[in-house]
Amino acid sequence: MMRRVLTTFLLSVAVAACVSTSQVSPQTAPVGQAQRPPAAAEAQPPSRPGAAPAAAAPAAATDLTLPHAKDSVKFLALGDMGTGDTPQYEVAKQMVAWRAKFPFDFAIMLGDNLYGSQAPQDFVQKFDAPYKPLLDAGVKFYAALGNHDNQTNRFYKTWNMNGERFYSYTKQNAKFIALDSDYMDPKQLKWLEDELKAAKEDWKIVYFHHPLYSSGGTHGSEVDLRLILEPLFVQYGVNAVYSGHDHIYERIKPQKGIYYFVSGSAGQLRKGDLKRSALTEVGYDQDQSFMLNEIVGDDLYFQAITRTGKTIDSGSLHRQPKPAGAAVQK
Ligand SMILES: [Fe+2]
Repeated sequence: MMRRVLTTFLLSVAVAACVSTSQVSPQTAPVGQAQRPPAAAEAQPPSRPGAAPAAAAPAAATDLTLPHAKDSVKFLALGDMGTGDTPQYEVAKQMVAWRAKFPFDFAIMLGDNLYGSQAPQDFVQKFDAPYKPLLDAGVKFYAALGNHDNQTNRFYKTWNMNGERFYSYTKQNAKFIALDSDYMDPKQLKWLEDELKAAKEDWKIVYFHHPLYSSGGTHGSEVDLRLILEPLFVQYGVNAVYSGHDHIYERIKPQKGIYYFVSGSAGQLRKGDLKRSALTEVGYDQDQSFMLNEIVGDDLYFQAITRTGKTIDSGSLHRQPKPAGAAVQK
């Protein structure tokens, strides 16, 4: 589906050659003011035709691969979650179970945070209720909007967007930048460049809904968006990028030295939609999943976990050297 994006803007700037996303043989995978709704009741996911059957009680969180270092930056990443259906609730239970072992204190939301109706009761059914234990524990959620999200959802206080389509915040040595990839207009691009130019943090992590690189069969790489964002990412030393939209998990091989993740299956799932390609480092499309992440000094550790608690990818990425001319921490 074409985004309602920057077509006009792109016509004036995007004449560069497209980057190939040709596919090769499979690789082995290791393993508001939006109205604030009433207080979250103990809502339960509705039983809907076609919804996956309820899994057994979530497996106990085991096999944490992250260092769980003292005073590290610990965060959750989830995308395409807001269905209000049983799998979203099951994934949420896994997040709660794993948090007992890995107490992340914030979450980045990669868009399509709500599907379908977005009335106040939907905020309860599709967000407040499944993540209530996390919210009650003080986990802060920082949202980026996807194509299924109403733009007015940026006013929903619990998503910490402060009414902005794009915004940033700092966690220790890391700068987090959330973008609105539905409308990548010149105003947002100017703001992004200013933010990146001024950032003095060691890490620059950017997230938004539409992936610049993806081997998802339904959507795949957003090449038009890549043409205008990637040069900024390279010039100003963005280290890692998280997106959703394709309802799979994929860790992309570093592109121009930048790490990319697609994590768009925390509620939705397109089973079998991963078309492994030359981009694919590790991918998984057989169950819903989410990510735990930890920044310890110059390393970013990650662990991707399924609805049933299985680890499908884990590892660490070393921080890239800062490009010449980048802002320096004083
Ligand atoms: Fe989407």
